[in-house]
Amino acid sequence: MSQELNEIFLKDYQAPRYLIESTDMHFELHEQDTLVRTRMQVTANVDGGAGAAFELFGHEDVELCRIAINDQVLSEKDYQRQGEKLIVKSVPASFLCETLTRIQPQDNTALEGLYKSDGMFCTQCEAEGFRRITFYPDRPDVMSVFRTTVEADKALYPVLLSNGNPVEQGESDDGRHWITWEDPFPKPAYLFALVAGDLEYIEDSYPTMSDRDVKLLIYGEAKDLDKLEYAMASLKNAMRWDEEVYGREYDLDIYMIVAVDFFNMGAMENKGLNIFNTSCVLAHPKTTTDAGFQRVEGVVAHEYFHNWSGNRVTCRDWFQLSLKEGFTVFRDAEFSADMNSRTVKRVEDVALLRTAQFAEDAGPMAHPIRPASFIEISNFYTLTIYEKGAEVVRMIHTLLGEEQFRAGSDLYFERHDGQAVTTDDFVAAMEDASGRDLSQFRLWYSQAGTPELKFSDEYDPQAHRYVLHVQQSCPASPGQATKEPMHIPLAMGLLDQQGNDLTLVNGETTLVLDVTEAEQSFTFENIQSRPVPSLLRGFSAPVKSHYPYQRDELVFLMANDSDGFSRWDAAQKLAVDIMQSLIHDHQNGVALTLDPRLVDAFRAILEDSTLDKAMVAKVLTLPSEAYLSELATEIDVDAIHHVRNFVRKELAQGLESILLSVYEACELAGEYSPDAASIARRSLRNLCLSYLMATEEARYLALAEEQYVNADNMTDQSAALSMVAHSRFKQAAHKLLERFYKQWQDEALVVNQWFAIQATNPEPGTLADVEALMQHPAFDMKNPNKLRALLGGFCGQNAINFHMADGSGYRFLGDRILELNKQNPQVASRMLTPLTRWKKYGEARQQQMKAQLQRILDSDGLSKDVYEVVSKSLA
Ligand code: TRP
Ligand code: ZN
Repeated sequence: MSQELNEIFLKDYQAPRYLIESTDMHFELHEQDTLVRTRMQVTANVDGGAGAAFELFGHEDVELCRIAINDQVLSEKDYQRQGEKLIVKSVPASFLCETLTRIQPQDNTALEGLYKSDGMFCTQCEAEGFRRITFYPDRPDVMSVFRTTVEADKALYPVLLSNGNPVEQGESDDGRHWITWEDPFPKPAYLFALVAGDLEYIEDSYPTMSDRDVKLLIYGEAKDLDKLEYAMASLKNAMRWDEEVYGREYDLDIYMIVAVDFFNMGAMENKGLNIFNTSCVLAHPKTTTDAGFQRVEGVVAHEYFHNWSGNRVTCRDWFQLSLKEGFTVFRDAEFSADMNSRTVKRVEDVALLRTAQFAEDAGPMAHPIRPASFIEISNFYTLTIYEKGAEVVRMIHTLLGEEQFRAGSDLYFERHDGQAVTTDDFVAAMEDASGRDLSQFRLWYSQAGTPELKFSDEYDPQAHRYVLHVQQSCPASPGQATKEPMHIPLAMGLLDQQGNDLTLVNGETTLVLDVTEAEQSFTFENIQSRPVPSLLRGFSAPVKSHYPYQRDELVFLMANDSDGFSRWDAAQKLAVDIMQSLIHDHQNGVALTLDPRLVDAFRAILEDSTLDKAMVAKVLTLPSEAYLSELATEIDVDAIHHVRNFVRKELAQGLESILLSVYEACELAGEYSPDAASIARRSLRNLCLSYLMATEEARYLALAEEQYVNADNMTDQSAALSMVAHSRFKQAAHKLLERFYKQWQDEALVVNQWFAIQATNPEPGTLADVEALMQHPAFDMKNPNKLRALLGGFCGQNAINFHMADGSGYRFLGDRILELNKQNPQVASRMLTPLTRWKKYGEARQQQMKAQLQRILDSDGLSKDVYEVVSKSLA
């Protein structure tokens, strides 16, 4: 493969030579050729633009019909084309640049730029999709006001939308009409959006803190109109929350959301015109699970919060992506914590980080939250940029405290409103407002890898002194052999023998220690007896922490820690410790027996009716196979799967009667509601049922079937379905899956759940099922949601089947990647992830995984997206 390695480096950043004052666009939408006229008012940038060449970007699929500077049409000798770049050699200091381009949105399967989703036109311009529409200085530090006219057939596309406010409209005799939109806020091209389609909407309004009325519109297909209310309610909650918590008000008079079914990611924060994957905006009790409701609430808020953290203050370049994403994920996580249960939200986020982000940090694509280079920026919309980025902002919040953090964010927004800035600017605002020195803390932005904390301690009973020793280290990552010690905020407390928190200083029971050295000790005086330390409370830093806890101490912390997150964490650590020994036993042919302390600890939790049911469900959920894999030095897929099932079955048998009574006690009467308390009951109830199903007793199959039949909501229905579908009761599984499809065949998102449930079946034979499902009329290889459900489910969430010893799972994925590479590079590259982790498996699997990567690398016509991931994985 002789792909030119076009790597882009942060250190090469240069300010733009020209700025665009205004951009006036005209879209003539057609079924075949769409014409785009763009007029840019250009001026040389003060710092030395004049005399320099004018640089635009345009994708190879865009036909440039005409380009003119100050009405002078350019000929090919007036400009130069280098890959995606178009360079006009000589231009005046201020000029009008006009282009005419021709594109074919109907053939655009990459879903970047202007494309069609179920017959409607829509756009996705982040990160570099705008260049698939027209030639433009497509970089986030070039900001312009946009005026956009959309013209299309009126019958086919009655709704025509773009950013900002509608200012003019008209129609012609040939059945076409047009609307002009104006967005007064200068923005980078990646925030541009256009929608044209036969859409319906729901409408509401929101009075802002300064008493302006904002019109809120959510658009979707007619059949989905009854699924938009929850997104509307979430939007209004998010608007209120941002005013109350950050003092930020919405700026335009209109806020629009459009639901589309073909979308590469979750949603997009285009100014005034968010475009959403249907999976992140549609919600209805009958078709959407509790997790789905919470996702809608979280993503609607996320995109809304971008209006300040992303749009009003944007990124200077794409290396700064975490500036907007990390901060916005932190904001949406806090919003969700305030709307629902704070501890549950924290547990969910940490579980995701520890499994998937830690694995990314340890893999071949590991990168700091501010990467130093990339080949394809789309490959950097990662858990590291988003979730670890959010953890880094959270650490600043922890170090500064609520008030100073707010002062810092106020300063940041005020100082940089209307600018394109860097993560350094963000940290500087936090420093300036608080007076706190964050220079060492900045290493979090430049060093990749997950730091590890190793603790030991000693207690002197004569001196009543307790000393906690901590060593920090960080493993090597690509391009970074050694790391410097980081500034790690360590929230901790000490428990006495009775399980009470000790008062440490100033009446505080939780301290935030500044871990800054490679080795450090912290001394605590006046400690009357040997304490049990509670470390990394609330997961105060995205690190791995190792303290040599005895199992009894973990049981003690599970019962007594004052920090809810830490109680969950103790349970996880206990279960991990037990399962790791069992994996060892299994590998050595030793018969498995479960440490009764786990059964007893779980029973105590189940019997305590004062606990938050959602937390009970979290505590009783065993660490996932993915997490056990992340923790393993070498992943033994079969042993992990076998042991986890063994433990589940033992727990189920040991706790059968209490599981059944909790199951019954958690039944809800009345209408479905996605509030935290009801979600908690359903989650605990379904967890109990899944344990009972693990006994493999026919009476619990009957119970699951009964729940399926009686369910009035998708949470209970799909939970029952997946338990039955993943059981050894083949006939029952088959029957229920058929019944489910019949009921829901007209609901695309529910059919996707049906695909996902089958793809994640751990029973043997699933690969053949998945291959058959790819031929199912409801499957569509061009739809990312379906790909994620079926391919993503099988390759990413069904380890025991994907990693079959004969390598058939790997070959299957290799084939699919080669098919997808041209069609949708972003999705193809994302789907590759499971193969990139080959180093963690045994020799035989390594060879087979590498063979697939090599086969992809050796094939012609690789997209930059796939090339970058495959080549880095084999390096
Ligand atoms: N900025 C979007 C977000 O809210 C991310 C996004 C949506 C995206 N669609 C995309 C990124 C397509 C790359 C390509 O997080
Ligand atoms: Zn985002």
